Amino acid sequence: MSKRIQFSHTGGPEVLEFVDAPPVAPGPGEARVKNAAIGLNFIDIYVRTGLYPTPSLPSGLGSEGAGVVDAVGAGVTHLREGDRVAYAQGPLGAYAQYHTLPADKLVSLPDAVSFETAAACMLKGLTTQYLLRQTYPLKGGETILWHAAAGGVGSIACQWARALGVRLIGTTSSPEKAALARRNGAWEVIDYSRENVVERVRELTDGAMCDVVYDSVGKDTWETSLDCLKPRSLMVSFGNASGAVDGVNLGILNRKGSQFVTRPSLNGYADTRERLEGMASELFAMLESGQVKVDIAQRYPLAEAGEAQHALAERRTTGSTILLP
Ligand SMILES: NC(=O)c1ccc[n+]([C@@H]2O[C@H](COP(=O)([O-])OP(=O)(O)OC[C@H]3O[C@@H](n4cnc5c(N)ncnc54)[C@H](OP(=O)(O)O)[C@@H]3O)[C@@H](O)[C@H]2O)c1
Repeated sequence: MSKRIQFSHTGGPEVLEFVDAPPVAPGPGEARVKNAAIGLNFIDIYVRTGLYPTPSLPSGLGSEGAGVVDAVGAGVTHLREGDRVAYAQGPLGAYAQYHTLPADKLVSLPDAVSFETAAACMLKGLTTQYLLRQTYPLKGGETILWHAAAGGVGSIACQWARALGVRLIGTTSSPEKAALARRNGAWEVIDYSRENVVERVRELTDGAMCDVVYDSVGKDTWETSLDCLKPRSLMVSFGNASGAVDGVNLGILNRKGSQFVTRPSLNGYADTRERLEGMASELFAMLESGQVKVDIAQRYPLAEAGEAQHALAERRTTGSTILLP
C-alpha cells in the first residue's frame, strides 16, 4: 500500500500522520507522479499550524517534489508516462509516494538535474528567480539585504545574486550560518541575533543603505528592514518565519523615507504555463551552468516529516531539506 503524510487538525509536528493512501487516478488534465524526492519548505509549517488555511481537513501537505509520471488523464498532451518531471505548485499533497495534480503544474526535468536537486530547489529556486529577476529586476551593482541567508531560499539567493553582480548583505543567527552564506557568495553577513543590523548596513554601505530588502522573517525584522532602505526603495516582504506582519499603519512608509512595499508569492508570478516554463528554464540554466549549486544539507525518510519540520522551525537546518518516499 502506498503512503502519504496527512493531518486532521492543525497544530505542532505531532499532528502529522503517516497513513495508507492508494494512488489517485488522474482526472482530465491531470497527471500522477511517483515521487522520487520531496521538498521541505517553511510554508508547509504555516499550513500545518493553520496560518495558511487548507481547503478541507484531513489534508495532505507539501507542494514541491520530483519524480516520474506514472499515469496521465484525458486531454494531457505535453507529458507521457515515464517522463521525468518536477513541480512546486498545485494542490497540497506532495508529502506522499504518489501525487496527482494538474499536468500544467509539471515541468520536464533536464537529464542533468537529478530528482533530489529538483525537489530541493523547485519552489525555492523559482521563488528566487521571481524575487531577483522580476519583483525587482536587478541589473548588477545594486546592494540588497537578504534575511535568513543560510536557509533554503537564502542559499540559492546568495549564489544567484553573486552571478548577477549584486552585493548581497545576508543576515544569519550563528557564525556557522554566516560562513555558509559567505561561501555561497554573500558580500557581507550580519549576525542579527547579536549585531545592530541598521548600524552595520550603514557602515557597510558608507551610509548609502540598500536598494532592496528581501524579508522572509516577518514580524521580528519588519521595522529594521524598512530602516535599511535608501529613500524611495523597495521592501519585499515574502515570508513569516517569526510570525506574520500585521496591523501596519501605512504612514510608516512615509516616515521611513517614502518606501514601496510588496508582498509577493510564487503563485502570483508563475500564474500561467508560459510564465512557469520561462522561470523554470532560467532556474535550470543556472543549475546547469554551475552558477547555482543546491545544498541538500538534510535528508529524512518521508515518515519522519514531522521531525524534519521541527528541525526547520527550530532553526537547526541550513540549505535545503528533502524527504525521501
Ligand atoms: N512568498 C513566496 O513566494 C515564498 C516562497 C518560498 C518561501 N518563502 C518564504 O521564505 C522563507 C524561507 O523559506 P525556507 O523554506 O527556505 O526556510 P529557511 O530559510 O530554510 O528557514 C527559515 C529560516 O528563517 C530564520 N528565522 C528567523 N526567525 C525565525 C524564527 N522565529 N523561527 C524560525 N526561523 C527563523 C532562520 O534562519 P537564522 O537561524 O539564520 O535566523 C531559519 O533557518 C520562509 O519565510 C518562507 O515562508 C516565501
